[in-house]
Amino acid sequence: MVTSRIVATGAGIPSQVITNDDLAQIMDTSDEWIRQRTGIGERHISGGEDLSYYTTKAARQIIERAGIAPEDIDLIVVATVTADYCTPSAACMVQKEIGAVNAVAFDVTAACSGFLYGVSVADKFIRCGVYKNALVIGGEILSKIVDWKDRSTCVLFGDGAAGVLLERSESQQGILMEELGAKGEDYAVLTARRLAPANAFNEVEPQTECGHVTMDGRAVFKFATKKIVSSIENVLEKSGVSKDEITYFIPHQANARIVEVAAKKLKLPMDRFYINIEHYGNTSAASIPIALNEMNEKGLLHEGDKLILCGFGGGLTWGTLLIQW
Ligand code: ACO
Repeated sequence: MVTSRIVATGAGIPSQVITNDDLAQIMDTSDEWIRQRTGIGERHISGGEDLSYYTTKAARQIIERAGIAPEDIDLIVVATVTADYCTPSAACMVQKEIGAVNAVAFDVTAACSGFLYGVSVADKFIRCGVYKNALVIGGEILSKIVDWKDRSTCVLFGDGAAGVLLERSESQQGILMEELGAKGEDYAVLTARRLAPANAFNEVEPQTECGHVTMDGRAVFKFATKKIVSSIENVLEKSGVSKDEITYFIPHQANARIVEVAAKKLKLPMDRFYINIEHYGNTSAASIPIALNEMNEKGLLHEGDKLILCGFGGGLTWGTLLIQW
């Protein structure tokens, strides 16, 4: 069977750490409220750099670890909602910075599910024989689009980038099964508007909140806890793999409580879920690859391990991948 397997991981994380206590200095919140409701203790926030700085850092680490020359990379996909520009894509900026002159490069936008969408697209190119490898990165600079005056959202998010190099594989290792989904009818539950709606021929009220994240937290909570469970169950059923065969479940790190509820519904203990939200907050498309890279660096992943990666978020979108390491 031809599939694509992960041959290396890497990350680019801002060095500036902002704790809950730091936030409590500038807004009416507390470490206790944030920890109890979300599991977040601190987050990394860009020192002013744009996304391309961190995606490039991640890309350099991945290609160094993979031992691949930049000119041998066939495809670059970046999943993000916070690219430096509307155009060029974040992927083209990575291409320039690392000198991947022969790569095709584009972005995918599926918010917190974006990395899984990106891996899925790259996997299809590889399976079809169009490309032999792909650099897939999830990255966000959410600190630039949150409303720092809205304590109900800004405390949740962080910045960072991470990703993988996928290569054509004819072994048992690789992406075994997937489910992607979208529910656009509920798009308004989680939004960040990019452009002001006015133009030279249309007088409209200027949007002072333009660009900021807005979220119906309870609706997202409900959607996420339902979708994680059904999507994981679907993927396991389609693949004929039982949940006991999964070494780790690696969920999108939006809120530790969401994972606790999902774990309970799946009748699984929490130690089967890898959670690092305490140190990163919600980094949207970057959260799953940051977790995967951290696990890889800690030596938690062994050849033959079966992993479930599961994400959900703006769109609304979701995705689950079953991977054999
Ligand atoms: N510090 C202190 N108090 C706060 C804060 C804060 N940072 N934010 C809100 N509050 C207050 C509210 O004003 C409210 O006060 P009131 O009762 O006097 O009106 C009270 O806390 C409760 O607010 P709720 O919004 O009802 O709090 P809730 O228990 O629903 O928790 C949360 C909010 C954590 C966002 C929750 O809804 C949630 O986890 N939702 C899931 C969404 C999520 O995780 N999104 C992440 C991004 S989306 C994604 O990644 C897919």
